[in-house]
Order: sequence, then structure tokens, then C-alpha cells
Amino acid sequence: MAYTIEFKKSGKVVPWDEHFENLMDFAEENGIALENECHVGVCGSCKVALLSGEVFMEVDDGLDEEPPGHNKILPCVAIPKSDIVLDL
Ligand code: FES
Repeated sequence: MAYTIEFKKSGKVVPWDEHFENLMDFAEENGIALENECHVGVCGSCKVALLSGEVFMEVDDGLDEEPPGHNKILPCVAIPKSDIVLDL
């Protein structure tokens, strides 16, 4: 069963499509544009709060300056590991 992706600010709830390689491309496909510069998890420009759920990120260098316990993720390199709610 596909995970459910909720874009809280946009009021959209959509099933994850495993053909996408990351949440940024998936958000854009759903009409939600994100800032991005590197698209490889390094610059941090795309970071967004994960309000619930879990994601996997192969790279998270772009979050190095976040304080401990932060809830930010990098959509350009993140894929969902559960149902998630994003602050987007
Ligand atoms: S676009 Fe650079 S970390 Fe996502």
C-alpha cells in the first residue's frame, strides 16, 4: 500500500508514487514548487519541516546547521518511509 503524503499548507493529500526519486520532484508534480539549488542534499535551500512520519535521506549535509532535535528534511533527497505530513 502506498504511503500517504500530506502537504499541510497546500491542503493536499496524495498517495506516494514510487516512480519518483525524491519528495521534491513529487511535490512539483503536485503543483508545489520548492526552492532548490543543488538538488543533492548539500545546500539546504529546500529544507522543510517534517510534521509527522519518517523519511530516508542518503545525504543530509544541508541540515548540518540545524539545532539538535530539529524536524527539518531535505525534500530533494528524501523518500518517505511511512505516511508523512510536510509543512508545505
Ligand atoms: S536543493 Fe540543496 S539541499 Fe535540497
